[in-house]
Amino acid sequence: MSDVAKAKEATEKQSRRILLLGATGTIGRATVSALLERGHEVVCFLREQSARSDPALSRAILRFGQPTDRESLLGHGFCGEHFDVVLSCLASRNGEAEDAWKVDHGANSAALSIAKSHGVKHFVLLSAICLQRPKLAFQKAKLAFESELMGSGLKYSIVRPTAFFKSLSGQVERVKSGKSFFLFGSGELTSCKPISDADLAAYLADCIDDPERQNRILPIGGPGEAITPKQQGQMLFDLLGRKPKFTHVPVIMLDMTIGLLGLAGLIFPAARKKAEYARIGRYYATESMLLYDAESGQYDASKTPETGTDTLREHYKMLVFDQAD
Ligand SMILES: NC(=O)c1ccc[n+]([C@@H]2O[C@H](COP(=O)([O-])OP(=O)(O)OC[C@H]3O[C@@H](n4cnc5c(N)ncnc54)[C@H](OP(=O)(O)O)[C@@H]3O)[C@@H](O)[C@H]2O)c1
Repeated sequence: MSDVAKAKEATEKQSRRILLLGATGTIGRATVSALLERGHEVVCFLREQSARSDPALSRAILRFGQPTDRESLLGHGFCGEHFDVVLSCLASRNGEAEDAWKVDHGANSAALSIAKSHGVKHFVLLSAICLQRPKLAFQKAKLAFESELMGSGLKYSIVRPTAFFKSLSGQVERVKSGKSFFLFGSGELTSCKPISDADLAAYLADCIDDPERQNRILPIGGPGEAITPKQQGQMLFDLLGRKPKFTHVPVIMLDMTIGLLGLAGLIFPAARKKAEYARIGRYYATESMLLYDAESGQYDASKTPETGTDTLREHYKMLVFDQAD
């Protein structure tokens, strides 16, 4: 590499000042570490009650306030200072429509408009691959913000990952205790390319210096072949040295639940919320978290980009054997 190219690379990889939103979330916490490892100055704006004594967070600058309140974001987050990048891992914790519009759309939208007026150059957004085929309320809120971001004139990186390890680990405890692994239908209706928190955080952090990851929507999965829920179950039984035992739940049961809760929801608001949770469940039981090829009308594992080195098998191994101690 020539000296000019080296100097250019060094300038491009200089330390940046980053305002991070959603730093207390699963991916946000990993992203703090990834940004610090790359030499950036990280200012996290978060709800005070959520700040934990987490070693990753303790190495960042913490500012407290209410990220969903524009005035708080302006006065206690940005504080009239310069930031090079805003990176948002904010997301509704329950996926309900009202909360998603407040958090995934509203808080990000306020942050974007303040970022523009404060000379921020680049907005990196943690989004989701499921937005390719939106059917759920929270997906519409997220899409509305993605669209604002793309039209903002700011440089943007919209990262749409596939399934996180945590979302595929909900049955580890029940299987360890000798119970069966639940599957919707055959367990082969969907597949995904699971991505670890650390690999996704590294991918998000590297958007800052990689021009190939700018002004793009970036679907991204973890390494290796796509896997079905059935294969996830088999992996767990294999690690435990036990014969696979599955309980198959017909998808129609979810449809019936959605129908019944939908009817009850005409009268009871609580049932309306439960109907939305059931719709979310049905969506993930029947839609793959892979790149959707609109031409063929199919999800396509081979076209789903991948990053990182962490595998779900290693993650399961850690959960199975750590907790067995
Ligand atoms: N789970 C998956 O498999 C998967 C796959 C692909 C994409 N995604 C996407 O990834 C995102 C979720 O990431 P994650 O699991 O890291 O999220 P998470 O752990 O639920 O964290 C959400 C973050 O947003 C903040 N937040 C939520 N509601 C807030 C509110 N009302 N006011 C202020 N802050 C609020 C939380 O702060 P507090 O700590 O204060 O609550 C937290 O920092 C979503 O956009 C999802 O669609 C998920």
